[in-house]
Amino acid sequence: MPHPSTATVMNDLMNGELRAAHLYWQAGAWCVERNLNGCSELLLTHADEELTHMKKMLNYLVDCEWPIRFQALPEPKVDTESVQELFQLILDHEKKVTDGINRAVKEAQASDDHSTFEFLQWFVMEQREEIKTFQGIIDRIKLIGDGPHSLYYIDKEVAEMSASMAASGGA
Ligand code: FEO
Repeated sequence: MPHPSTATVMNDLMNGELRAAHLYWQAGAWCVERNLNGCSELLLTHADEELTHMKKMLNYLVDCEWPIRFQALPEPKVDTESVQELFQLILDHEKKVTDGINRAVKEAQASDDHSTFEFLQWFVMEQREEIKTFQGIIDRIKLIGDGPHSLYYIDKEVAEMSASMAASGGA
């Protein structure tokens, strides 16, 4: 049976997924403003994925009959003019999410909450995939170079990645 001591941790994770969607919307808007349509497609599609993660957490809290508490959303900050820095900001964010998932796994283990531990394994794998995806984009941008004349090629490359991820069913 799930352990109530993990309820707060799970609420925090649910709110974190919502904050992630908010950040991806802002990052997608940053790309739309610069006509980087391939990048915006990938980021806005990813925002939808973050919402499915949030709902997954929400449904788990419901199943456990734990209280559900949504928190105020901070303004998502995308303070850069470089597409490489934009994806670095996303990658850094995903690393923080991964740290939060890992802390929750530890908490579930410490509480003998096997149900939550098992539930979180999907998120552990998902985070591994997300880090790989965004690190991969940054690696390609580094190869292409992110000066003004490279933006067309970066956007084309990210559009292809986005289409291939959509065809394979996710990030
Ligand atoms: Fe649901 Fe990108 O973490």
